[in-house]
Amino acid sequence: MNLKGNTVLITGGASGIGYALAEDFLKAGSEVIICGRREEKLLEAQKKHPEFKIKKCDAASDAERAELVQWAVSNFKNLNILVNNAGIQRDIDFKKGIAEYKAGPNEIAINLEAPIVLSGMFIPYLTGKEGAAIINVSSGLGFVPAAKMPVYSATKAGLHVFSMALRHQLKTTGIKVYEVIPPAVDTDLNAEGRASRGGYKANLGPEEFAAAVMKKLEADVFEIGYGMTENSINASRADLNKSFEQMNSRW
Ligand SMILES: NC(=O)c1ccc[n+]([C@@H]2O[C@H](COP(=O)([O-])OP(=O)(O)OC[C@H]3O[C@@H](n4cnc5c(N)ncnc54)[C@H](OP(=O)(O)O)[C@@H]3O)[C@@H](O)[C@H]2O)c1
Repeated sequence: MNLKGNTVLITGGASGIGYALAEDFLKAGSEVIICGRREEKLLEAQKKHPEFKIKKCDAASDAERAELVQWAVSNFKNLNILVNNAGIQRDIDFKKGIAEYKAGPNEIAINLEAPIVLSGMFIPYLTGKEGAAIINVSSGLGFVPAAKMPVYSATKAGLHVFSMALRHQLKTTGIKVYEVIPPAVDTDLNAEGRASRGGYKANLGPEEFAAAVMKKLEADVFEIGYGMTENSINASRADLNKSFEQMNSRW
């Protein structure tokens, strides 16, 4: 991928990994549009980088997804890269039945349905554009699920499989499909869950992670892992089972 001269839309681009990728694409010479639900976070990001274009959007809402696509394609004719990064993570205990699942926001709509629907809606506009790409941000937990976050892990496994299938389907369209597979990164994701695990803090910052991702995007690596997730991509089933036991016996 050429990192320069693109017009990139990043969902959830006002914080964490999305923000770090947004800064890196900007630095590399691309135009960057970020969206998310909290207007104040978008404005804060734009204050730091006035070049950022911002759009308030709830990617879990079908109507707001449609509005985002219409706004983006009519204002940015050269839009050629979609980064499906927005995500949430929840601890859900199914020993309590369905109650906890029902009590919070819908991870399936945000983490899995949004990338699927946004990809489908943008593909007609990306087709034929130079350097067209879809970048899906999944997770190491899509390869080795965390028992405490069963729905989150399932959405990320789903996004991994979707990315593989989409990459194959789009071969003839010129749209490249990349999957970014972060390990634990120090962001605001699931702050509540992290607090309940004694204030767990990952020792990898989003800037360091994003810098590594950019290098791999440039080298056209289509499944981008880092550290532990680099191993998971190529691990045997036995290795994945071992990691699963190790991780879930700690939590
Ligand atoms: N941090 C990690 O350890 C880790 C590990 C593996 C994978 N990931 C993945 O990396 C991606 C980025 O997460 P992060 O760690 O950078 O956490 P983060 O800082 O919390 O970023 C998530 C972003 O998504 C946005 N978002 C959430 N729900 C949204 C919705 N319904 N519509 C639009 N935007 C929405 C949030 O903005 P608003 O709240 O303003 O909407 C926020 O900017 C996620 O897909 C996450 O699953 C993270």
